[in-house]
Amino acid sequence: MAIKILAMGGDGIGPEVVDAALQVLEVAAKSAKLAVDLSEDLLHGACWDRHGTFLRPETLDRARESDALLIGATGGPRWDHIVVDGGPEEQDGLMKLRHELQVFACLRHARAFDALSNRTAFRPEAIRGADLMVMRELCGGAMFTRTRGIDSAGDAGRRGFDLNEYTEAEIERFARVGFEVARRRRGRLLSVDKSNVFIAGKLWREVVDRIGNNEYPDVELSHFYTDNAAYQLCCRPADFDVILADNLFGDILSDQSGAIAGSLGMLPSACLAELPVGGRSEKPAIYEPVHGSAPDIAGRGIANPIGTILSVAMLLDYSAGEVVCARRIEAAVDAALNDGFFTPDLGGRHTTSQVTDAVIRQFRSL
Ligand code: NAD
Ligand code: IPM
Ligand code: MN
Repeated sequence: MAIKILAMGGDGIGPEVVDAALQVLEVAAKSAKLAVDLSEDLLHGACWDRHGTFLRPETLDRARESDALLIGATGGPRWDHIVVDGGPEEQDGLMKLRHELQVFACLRHARAFDALSNRTAFRPEAIRGADLMVMRELCGGAMFTRTRGIDSAGDAGRRGFDLNEYTEAEIERFARVGFEVARRRRGRLLSVDKSNVFIAGKLWREVVDRIGNNEYPDVELSHFYTDNAAYQLCCRPADFDVILADNLFGDILSDQSGAIAGSLGMLPSACLAELPVGGRSEKPAIYEPVHGSAPDIAGRGIANPIGTILSVAMLLDYSAGEVVCARRIEAAVDAALNDGFFTPDLGGRHTTSQVTDAVIRQFRSL
């Protein structure tokens, strides 16, 4: 049966990197004899300009019927000031999709690439072998709270607030996916929180501890305060395996991990509503690079497509069960980099399409 994929470039460099990744998908799917039922649609700013909404109801229906969504990026100065009625999910087409599809477990993969060892901000020996998964809770916390707004604080002027809240059920379901991912990797999970200050952080730590001790005694669990985790991630990135973080901390630590890979443009993600057991996820999942719409370089054909290409690899892995094909895309990316194909964010002069063509050539030759 064909895998149903809905692709949405979104805004800024989003359409450029999604176009690139779809070219890789086409070649990869053909080699794996995987039939793809592909459709495309507008998201967020691009959708606002055409239809006056960040996400059309018919697009959401199509998303619900899909196996996987491949998304570029949303947002930009043209739309970032627009406020619409409703909660946080109504303010951004991508936030709406995350919320409606309940893709609460976001896996953001960062690794050090041998070919880039002299092109990062780190000494080569400090990052050699680094390979980590930042797991970001994606549907809760301060980013999706209903308790938000701006009101009057009397003499102090106005007060802005977004409640940092998590229920036990939200922490539990996310922690379980985190432990499962750690089991499939090197068996180590570091949970981060600010339980020295936040009450919500105390509950986070208590629940993660309980799930770990009762259900995953084989996974080595540790806890750091998030500020220390950010520091240690800079000092010794190769020591990390899985990092379990709430929505806000995960957002920050995943961008920080981009520095280990040499550019934020290198990082892929899989946003899952369940961790598939032996094959494909039954529920629609979202695959997207970790970066944003990069308005500063949009439209110039120089965006790094690798984060989105590697997101296609995660798609094939988690939503199609095509593990071998996924690994082959990753190897093709390594080979293209070893061949010296670098976009400007990596200090090179190659264009998006030159890097994409190099990955496709390497994929075919592997
Ligand atoms: P950004 O990730 O768009 O850009 C940060 C920096 O990284 C910029 O210098 C940019 O040029 C560079 N960069 C990012 N991706 C790159 C790539 N593929 N190739 C080369 N360079 C790349 O973050 P920002 O500038 O803070 O945000 C811009 C807009 O994107 C905002 O509207 C923001 O809300 C939105 N945003 C969207 C997402 C998403 O859709 N998932 C993520 C982050 C930010
Ligand atoms: C990301 C982005 C988004 C987020 C924004 C654009 C809503 O920063 O995907 O990391 O904060 O989740
Ligand atoms: Mn982010």
